[in-house]
Amino acid sequence: MELTINGKSHPVPPLWQEESLLFFIREQLGLTGTKFGCGAGLCGACTVLLDGQAQRSCVLPVAQASGHEIRTIEGLAEPSGKLHPVQQAWITEAVPQCGYCQAGQIMSTVALLSEHRQPTQEQIDAALAGNLCRCGTQKRIRAAVTRAAG
Ligand code: FES
Repeated sequence: MELTINGKSHPVPPLWQEESLLFFIREQLGLTGTKFGCGAGLCGACTVLLDGQAQRSCVLPVAQASGHEIRTIEGLAEPSGKLHPVQQAWITEAVPQCGYCQAGQIMSTVALLSEHRQPTQEQIDAALAGNLCRCGTQKRIRAAVTRAAG
């Protein structure tokens, strides 16, 4: 079994095949930008893209991710190092406070903007409703999403 993550193929050792995608990404590949929050699909900290759609990686077994294109926060910037427009908007709006949830927020936003280039406020709120932030950065997140869409 193999997983395609950020455009690269990774063999999955048998012991890892029943593990969550989140643990494989973090522990086996060392891609620690994707965070563990609740481990139950509730907080959004572990959000990655699966074929371009936002996906909670803590509740997805590795075996079910095989055959799909997975993208993590580490795979958003261009190979030259140029940041993704959503990452750049996050910096311009100085969104993060503690930063823990932000990779998940960014990945959900990338999925949203690939579906709705100019999302309404309601579409932004709906797309990010499952990404919790205890620091209260939601106002700056909305501003950054609007900036990235602009
Ligand atoms: Fe996956 Fe919270 S850690 S949704």
